[in-house]
Amino acid sequence: MSERQPQYPADALFVNRWSPRSLTGEAIDDQTLLTLFEAARWAPSAFNVQPWRFSYSKNDSESFSTYLDFLVEFNQSWAKNASALIVVLAKKITMTSQAEVEFPSYAFDTGAAWASLAFQAEKLGWVTHGMTGINKEKIAATLKVPETYSVEAMIAVGKQGDKAALPEGLQAKEAPSDRRPVEETIFEGIGFKE
Ligand SMILES: Cc1cc2nc3c(=O)[nH]c(=O)nc-3n(C[C@H](O)[C@H](O)[C@H](O)COP(=O)(O)O)c2cc1C
Repeated sequence: MSERQPQYPADALFVNRWSPRSLTGEAIDDQTLLTLFEAARWAPSAFNVQPWRFSYSKNDSESFSTYLDFLVEFNQSWAKNASALIVVLAKKITMTSQAEVEFPSYAFDTGAAWASLAFQAEKLGWVTHGMTGINKEKIAATLKVPETYSVEAMIAVGKQGDKAALPEGLQAKEAPSDRRPVEETIFEGIGFKE
């Protein structure tokens, strides 16, 4: 598809964000990266628990190749040109005075934080690409993630590059995707349709 057409007048920020794979590999400055994390920081969460955590590596850092190694081969093929790679973690469990309790919405809340980060990037002229094509066990072992946290996903952050710079197979996929109609997602009142 060429340009996304909203059915209803949602802000262009939401409609125009998409996940390119052609990235320029340029360096990202700390101020920008911290601004993305700042946006995530203000996401809502149940009981304001803020279960999200982010580990990251910038592409000029020694740890970048280790982070790249967390990805499946397909994702490595294009994410090697990311400016930064981020691991998204979520705190699953907390200790109350009585027992260990699982937060009911750690994944839901962490999803909200990642979305905030993605939209902030879009606003600043950067792009993000979420990935679950990752090796969660390797990430947990390498970063020494405690068992009370879950590895949720990774994010590639970068500046969008030319489609022509991608290998041929990926060029065909390099376009904003469409969505099913809003009416197939929402149900008014009592009832549910598959
Ligand atoms: C949690 C999550 C995991 C994803 N995993 C991958 C991945 O491993 N590799 C990949 O190329 N794209 C991945 N994507 C990108 C999705 O395919 C993409 O967001 C979706 O097709 C919608 O397209 P858009 O983001 O361009 O609007 C992932 C996206 C999300 C949110």
